[in-house]
Amino acid sequence: MTLDVDEIERLYAYPATERPWVRTNFVSTLDGAATGTDGRSGTLGGDTDTRVFALLRSLSDVIVVGAGTARDEAYADYEVDTDLRGRLGLSPIPAMALISRRLDIPQHLLVADNLVVTTADADPARLATLRESVEVIAVGDGEIDWPDVLTIFADRGWTRVLCEGGPSLHGELVAHDLVDELCLTIAPILAAGGAPRISHGAHTVDQQMRLAHAIEADGGLLTRWVRDRDR
Ligand SMILES: NC(=O)c1ccc[n+]([C@@H]2O[C@H](COP(=O)([O-])OP(=O)(O)OC[C@H]3O[C@@H](n4cnc5c(N)ncnc54)[C@H](OP(=O)(O)O)[C@@H]3O)[C@@H](O)[C@H]2O)c1
Repeated sequence: MTLDVDEIERLYAYPATERPWVRTNFVSTLDGAATGTDGRSGTLGGDTDTRVFALLRSLSDVIVVGAGTARDEAYADYEVDTDLRGRLGLSPIPAMALISRRLDIPQHLLVADNLVVTTADADPARLATLRESVEVIAVGDGEIDWPDVLTIFADRGWTRVLCEGGPSLHGELVAHDLVDELCLTIAPILAAGGAPRISHGAHTVDQQMRLAHAIEADGGLLTRWVRDRDR
């Protein structure tokens, strides 16, 4: 099935919420691998997944990404559909929040439109240096205080949160029951090997999700799963 932009926009519209709605977006092989033979995820998705990936960015207020993914997937500048954003009353580009404990962020990502989210007890010298070039939100001792982060997002009117991973960050959000929606592309590939899953962490939880859609595209499936709870 070929999806046009209007159809993708309709399928992936954020619900109207006053609190931040946390959407995560991943691709996985049939046997659960989150990376392909090159150790990255981009090679797993087909053309439609690539278009959905881009459109999800265009629909968001803030893109949240772990520093590991930003490093491994060589994150750089990105383009969004400014006409679509204008029509939806969104800012010209979404902010990008880079999540890090060690504050090892690629230099080219330390630009004014981005922000870094870390713990309050992060290295003070690194914090001071980073703050010369980029906004830093430092909340929580030992681990990031996610409810505080989401409150800060809400105060800025950022209710459309898009988390692009990776699996460690995703696992922490899942463990805290903060994932409202998972957009998962299932690629028609068997990978074996030792690749990570799309979510992992120290604790196993049991959170039921409801299927919102499953659409065949490029031989795989585009799926969207929602966690039902009071908005
Ligand atoms: N299949 C997919 O859709 C998909 C999506 C994204 C990524 N990936 C793949 O996943 C792999 C990377 O996995 P990963 O688990 O290492 O990714 P990750 O979660 O992006 O990276 C882990 C790093 O991000 C920072 N981080 C993540 N969660 C944090 C938290 N709660 N608090 C503080 N810092 C946090 C830390 O950075 P510091 O080291 O700077 O402290 C940590 O070392 C790559 O191979 C990538 O290609 C796949």
